[in-house]
Amino acid sequence: MNLQEFTSREGASLAAAGKIVASLERRLGGQTPTNLVVTGGSSPVQCYAQLAKADIAWRNVRLVLSDERWVPPDHPDSNEKLVRDTLLTGHAAQAGLLPFYDAAMSITERSEDFSREYAGFDTAACALLGMGDDGHFASLFPDAENLQVGLRPGSSIFCIPVNTTSSPYPRISLTLSALLKSDELVLLCFGDAKRDVLDKASRGEGNFPIAHLLRQSHVPATIFWAP
Ligand code: 6PG
Repeated sequence: MNLQEFTSREGASLAAAGKIVASLERRLGGQTPTNLVVTGGSSPVQCYAQLAKADIAWRNVRLVLSDERWVPPDHPDSNEKLVRDTLLTGHAAQAGLLPFYDAAMSITERSEDFSREYAGFDTAACALLGMGDDGHFASLFPDAENLQVGLRPGSSIFCIPVNTTSSPYPRISLTLSALLKSDELVLLCFGDAKRDVLDKASRGEGNFPIAHLLRQSHVPATIFWAP
């Protein structure tokens, strides 16, 4: 695994932001709209603040969430809210955002609808992901009954509903197959516990969903880690 270690979380966040900007600029050179997949959670907040300062053609970028808690966008735990508050600011305020939550649909209807829509998307410039201490990424949690659907490479299912004891809300998540429709993957995670999971997963130890992302060779993945 391509892991870059940093002495500070700020340093890792700045480096990850630089990698993402470079991936966007490669696609934006053609002036065609491009997607950037963005994660929820607490780890990306400094990275988002740095991205928002980048003076690039954000009007041609559409943010796509990697996953969402099935709550309205004004809920404090909404990933859409997190991204609107921390990334859709500064220069990046011009970017588009494709939300998951739709009060008019069930989570299953939205998953099926989004999966069909995602099938028509061009390859994203980049997918920024975090990871939990249990080795989940996006909302592909170890205890999800449909986890194997979510991890099946090459699947035409690009979005699934997820129930997990780790979350008080139902989740909706891109699948690994959807995330691999990206030019590159950036994984930003902090702390010794997550580093231990990464090391074990890279050795094939344990039952960590992240192992499926680390072992694939279709899309280059760079891990930015700090204590
Ligand atoms: C979410 C995220 C999730 C996150 C990990 C790590 O909805 O919570 O999409 O996959 O990346 O849970 O979260 P932290 O960055 O807060 O540790």
